[in-house]
Amino acid sequence: MKPELIHQIDPLRAAVAGRRARGLTIGLVPTMGALHAGHGRLIELARRECGAVVVSIFVNPIQFNQAEDFERYPRTLQADLDYCGRLGVDLVFAPDEREMYPGPLRTFVNIEHLTDHLCGAFRPGHFRGVATVVTKLFMIVQPDRAYFGRKDAQQLAVIRRMVADLNIPVEIVAVPTVREPDGLALSSRNARLSAEEREAATVLYRGLEAARQAWARGLRDADQLKQIAREIFATRSEVRIEYLEVVDAEMQPVAMVSGPALLAVAAWVGTTRLIDNMPLEP
Ligand code: PAF
Repeated sequence: MKPELIHQIDPLRAAVAGRRARGLTIGLVPTMGALHAGHGRLIELARRECGAVVVSIFVNPIQFNQAEDFERYPRTLQADLDYCGRLGVDLVFAPDEREMYPGPLRTFVNIEHLTDHLCGAFRPGHFRGVATVVTKLFMIVQPDRAYFGRKDAQQLAVIRRMVADLNIPVEIVAVPTVREPDGLALSSRNARLSAEEREAATVLYRGLEAARQAWARGLRDADQLKQIAREIFATRSEVRIEYLEVVDAEMQPVAMVSGPALLAVAAWVGTTRLIDNMPLEP
């Protein structure tokens, strides 16, 4: 079945209200399109858990800190619709920029502290843009549940905190990272990699996984864990590390791992920026 494609807020609200009136719970999967099996996992879970599934597709300009990255972001609406149809999505909400931002925006959602490190330090304004658009999507769709991937671990932490701090009545569901057979985390940006870069990018997973194994054997010193990953990253000259950090649940760097932690990396592979992470938890 083809999902219903809706470009505007009012008809989307009406379509959701109709389903809610029939007693269906509403699941939202917010995306920027260029859907892949990672999104597929979010949609499948939403399909199992909710009476109606809404996928939003919007390449959100205010979360890009480089105009070029925004322009180069893949846009594949027709293929995305087919994919959503195969996964039994009910509604696809694909607004244009004017619908989401009709005039200059004067209201932003800013999450402090959790955004000081990792991507927050290297992409100024990024999480403000994410939190603002996700808040707008929550207000537009008013879902019971919303689904986010663990690959964007800092984004997930930021959204969970925002929902708690602002008492937004939505349950956030976190879904594990989906990987290629060689370990590369699925990302819409992988499509930009050349064959050589694609192969080189596998050091990210291998480095993180080697450090995770050392952690599982009892190593708790963050510098030593990072050194293990770094040695593997360094085997490919195409890969330039932007950051590599061990952080706690509040996304703060730690020197020793003493509770739930995350080993997180961002790297440039050629002109493509990739992120990945490995939870360090039992
Ligand atoms: O993870 C993404 O694709 C985006 O950051 C999101 C959550 C859809 C907001 O634009």
